[in-house]
Parts: sequence; C-alpha cells; structure tokens
Amino acid sequence: MTAAQETAPAALAADGDGAAGLSARRSGPLRGVVRAPGDKSISHRALILGALAQGRTRIEGLLEGEDVKRTAAAMAAFGAGVERLGDGAWEVEGRGGFSEPADVVDCGNAGTGVRLIMGAAAGFPLAATFTGDASLRGRPMNRVLKPLGEMGARWVCRAGGRLPLTLQGGELRAIAYRLPEPSAQVKSAVLLAGLNAAGGASVIEPEPTRDHTERMLRAFGAEVQVTEAAAGGRRILLPGGQRLAGAAVRVPGDPSSAAFPLVAALIVPGSEVTVEGMLLNPLRIGLLETLGEMGADLSVTNVREEGGETVADVTARHSALTGVEVPAERAPSMIDEYPILAVAAAFAEGPTAMRGIGELRVKESDRIALMAAGLAACGVGVEEGSDSLTVIGAVKANHGIAGGASVATHGDHRIAMSGLVLGLAAEARVAVDRAEMIATSFPGFLGLMRGLGAEISSAERRV
Ligand code: S3P
Repeated sequence: MTAAQETAPAALAADGDGAAGLSARRSGPLRGVVRAPGDKSISHRALILGALAQGRTRIEGLLEGEDVKRTAAAMAAFGAGVERLGDGAWEVEGRGGFSEPADVVDCGNAGTGVRLIMGAAAGFPLAATFTGDASLRGRPMNRVLKPLGEMGARWVCRAGGRLPLTLQGGELRAIAYRLPEPSAQVKSAVLLAGLNAAGGASVIEPEPTRDHTERMLRAFGAEVQVTEAAAGGRRILLPGGQRLAGAAVRVPGDPSSAAFPLVAALIVPGSEVTVEGMLLNPLRIGLLETLGEMGADLSVTNVREEGGETVADVTARHSALTGVEVPAERAPSMIDEYPILAVAAAFAEGPTAMRGIGELRVKESDRIALMAAGLAACGVGVEEGSDSLTVIGAVKANHGIAGGASVATHGDHRIAMSGLVLGLAAEARVAVDRAEMIATSFPGFLGLMRGLGAEISSAERRV
C-alpha cells in the first residue's frame, strides 16, 4: 500500500452525486446480499406500453433512474396519466393512444427511451420534437427512422439522422423488416409502430436480441407470433389492428447493473456477494456464460418465474479467472456488459478476446475506445480493433493491475462504474472523471457498493 492510499478518506459522509468524479481504492473483501435496481429495458417498456394501452397499468420495481424518469415524463407529455405511488411503484393511466405533446420531448441520455417512443408515436396523427443530452444527440437515429419511413412516417432532423428531430406521425403501412444490425431497440420501435399499422409488422432478426417487448406485448393482450428463421434467427409477427389493455408489471433486477457488484466480488480477494432477484432472461445472460467459462465461482439459486420472466439469486465469490475467446454471436446477449467484462479480463490469466462488438462504438460513448484507453492508462495490455477488443490479463506473471490513473468516461454511466470496480482491486487508486450520470441506470450504486465494503470516495480529494 502506498502512502497516498493510507491517507485517503475511508468514505464520504454522504452519497454525493459524483459530479466532480469519484475514485476507488483497493478494498478488503466485499461481502453482502443486495438487490439490483429494476431492469432498465423492462422499465421503459412498462411505461410506454402502459401509455399506449387502454386503462390502468400498475408497475412494481420500476427503475427510478434518470433514463426511465425521462420516459415517464414523456408518456405524460403524450397524454397518459403517470403517477408515482411509492418506491418503484408507479401507475399509468393509458388512453389507448398518444396525443400531441405541447413541448419538446427531452429523453436525456436514453437511447432506448427515444427510439421506442418514436416507434410508438409514429402511428398517431401528431408532430413531436425529440431531443436529448449531448451523448444522445450524437447517436444515430437513422436505424429507427429508416423502417418508420418505410411505414409512412415523416421527419426532419439534423445531419446523419441526429437529434433534435421532429417526427410527423400518421397512418402507417405494414412492414416486413430485416434488421441490418442486431438491435432490440430497432426491433421494438418497428413492433410498436406496427400496433397502429394496417396489416401490422413483422421483423426478422438474424441474431436474437432481448425479447422484452414481445413478452410484454403479450402480457398487455396482444397477439405476437415468434418463429425460428434461418441460421438461428427469429421472425416476429405482430398482426395489425390490435388494442392493448393495461396490465400489472413486476420489474426484475437488472442483470446489466448486477454485473458490477458481481464482477467486483470476482476480482477482490475474499469476496462473496449475492444479488437477489436478478433477471435471467436467456437473451440477457451472456455475461454469466462468459464468466463461467473464465472459471468464475458463480451460483444461481432460488430460480423462479415472476411476471413472465425468470429471476434468481446469483452469488459470486472471488475466483481465479482465465482469459477466453468471447464469440461474436454472443454479443447481443451481453452487449451492455463488455465494459465490465473487460475489467474482469484484466484480472484473468491470459488474453480475453471480445469480437463482433462494433455496436459498442455507438452506445452512450464509444465503449471500445474508452475501455481500451482507461485500461491502458491503468497498466493493462489491450489491443483495440474496429469491432473487437482484446484485454491481456496479467495475473499469471503475478502482476497486479497498477491503476493510479483517471478514466475518461465521456459521460457514460457504464464506463464510470467499470472504472470504479477496476479500482477496487488495483494497486493504486483509480479515478473516473465524472460519476453523476451513474444515476441514469443505477441510482444508489455508490451506497450499494460501499455497503459491500467498497472504498469509493470523492475524486476531488485525490488523484
Ligand atoms: C436495449 C437494447 C440495447 C442495449 C440498451 C437497451 C433495449 O441496445 O444496449 O442498453 O432495451 O432494447 P441496441 O438495441 O441498440 O443494441
């Protein structure tokens, strides 16, 4: 331990929003039982389907992160009654469709929010202007605008299909759309538009992506047919002219958030952490599969069905990890987990190659570039390709990870959490330049991690 580490504050008194950044230092064993916050994908969908439906939708366990709160506000702007009843308990009074919002709809940082809402709004006779934060305004919307345009929607937008954009909805035609890239957001936007298209919509996805929209449409009374397509793909058919009825939704714990305490337990010696009530949808568990192949000591208990999804308690214990090849076809089932997998890989023996991950370049940030830079700054060997990242784990040579650097986040919540988890097992403290945006997906991250024993403090005092 260095002198600098010894004089670091154990923890801040208050949670703080991390606006000035945070830093994490090498910590003792992490121990405890926690609940991950509600699943972000399911939370957005529950609000949107609730607003499209006729009648009352009662949601339990909604993620109260910034992204989802933006979607809640957007649903109110499109005419639904939206009320918070208590912690994670929300009620949506759907009017069976959207009306025109009186002002610009600001979706904040949320790609899922804006893309799904555009799809849902496209079939109604209204004009709506969408915007978002600097990250969202930089992200491509063409992938959604293309199929919506084929269905008959119109828009004006900034160059390259960027926000702000104004969507003109109206009568839509049926569509049979083959996804050019594996994207649950695009699939969902087309299906939601298809609800109001004469003849409905069908989507062919060459690689299956998360199927929460299909599952939830059924729970709201819609008919959705899913059949196998060539080479492991799927065809999803939504017949036209369907009406949704309000439903009860219980949101399970988000595996993409659970990943952070679980990986932290794997890399910090002596740790054992259980995350209760985690979603185990087969299209979301690529990270668990990969960590299992790396030799992670993970156990899955109390497997149960809740609200049409499988959930379980997942326990991770500190493990000797080995580098693996992560096949490209696994990418859709762990797309948001590559940054934290890269951290686990840094503490493994030998290289971990992640291929077919080009989509990571158009997430909240260019996650391949930022993880490569952050890990390299902390002394980890990395090789960056256009759609791949290889992390050279240095554990065999008994090299710890040096740390002692600041990770640039470009405002990306998952880069910030990954950098902090890295710091919990590095030789010297690791800082992240910003951390307040962690609340977009994981409000309470800091308190939860500290409760497990993680030493994370304000970066202003250090680095
Ligand atoms: C999501 C789909 C994924 C994922 C995002 C949530 C969803 O995006 O990265 O965080 O809820 O449909 P893509 O569809 O762009 O892969």
